[in-house]
Amino acid sequence: MAFRNLEITHRSAVHTIIVNRPDKLNALNRETLNELTIAFAQAAQDDGVRVVVLAGAGEKAFVAGADIAEMNGYTPTQALAFSRTGQRLMSSIERLGKPVIARVQGFALGGGMELAMACHFRVASEKAKFGQPEINLGLIPGFGGTQRLLRLAGRGAALELCLTGATISAQRAYELGIVTRVVAPDALDEAVVALADQLANAAPLAAAGILDAVLSGGEAAIDQGLEFETQGFALAFSTEDMREGTSAFLERRKATFVGR
Ligand code: COA
Repeated sequence: MAFRNLEITHRSAVHTIIVNRPDKLNALNRETLNELTIAFAQAAQDDGVRVVVLAGAGEKAFVAGADIAEMNGYTPTQALAFSRTGQRLMSSIERLGKPVIARVQGFALGGGMELAMACHFRVASEKAKFGQPEINLGLIPGFGGTQRLLRLAGRGAALELCLTGATISAQRAYELGIVTRVVAPDALDEAVVALADQLANAAPLAAAGILDAVLSGGEAAIDQGLEFETQGFALAFSTEDMREGTSAFLERRKATFVGR
């Protein structure tokens, strides 16, 4: 389907979704949230997609937040629906079952930082900026920011960033454990492509098992988390890819994984 606010490209097994409202710094209005929801559902269902890269159009912003102009007129009921739509989208990204990389070249503020945190990797340019500035608007984060920041970087960082609304550098976000990797601006695409290609060549069912064990285990007591891991480990033995991976090692050749 044609999207008004997204651009989609596909290279081999790497699917790239670009939020494309550069004149509004890619701010997330309702229509964009709905389109992202559809685009990620399509990526989840397409067996040809093994990795998703999420990016923002233009040089200036990944995504500069939820659309403030649209939110300005919301009633509490509309705000509730907007928050739920955003939270569901973020959870669907986190639980896509395939690795998702956020390519962050500029501002990732508010809903933009929440979107980046729902991804499994955040590869950022040295010029990228992160923050949860909702408090400056008399708001609180509404797309999962308080919860994912807490889990990614701990209570101290979550309280500091959300209560001060401060904008921090990519390097500081890296030090806090929010960003996976920081690179020079002109090395960003190369770093994203290298990571995406590495993930695209990995065994997809094993990747799905790892994502499930880590994400489910993060919300559970250790015994339950270990049980998720055991079940995923055993399930891997039902796949062709596990036979291929272990045989390739023993035969001293490169494995080719087919996702079965
Ligand atoms: N929602 C709606 N529109 C936004 C937006 C947002 N979150 N962020 C930027 N825009 C729009 C601006 O209104 C402006 O539109 P206009 O040209 O029609 O007036 C355009 O994007 C460019 O932004 P501008 O503010 O002129 O760029 P800047 O370089 O001066 O500042 C920022 C960049 C990111 C510092 C600034 O845009 C900003 O603070 N944005 C809001 C960040 C925020 O609070 N996000 C959390 C929302 S919950």
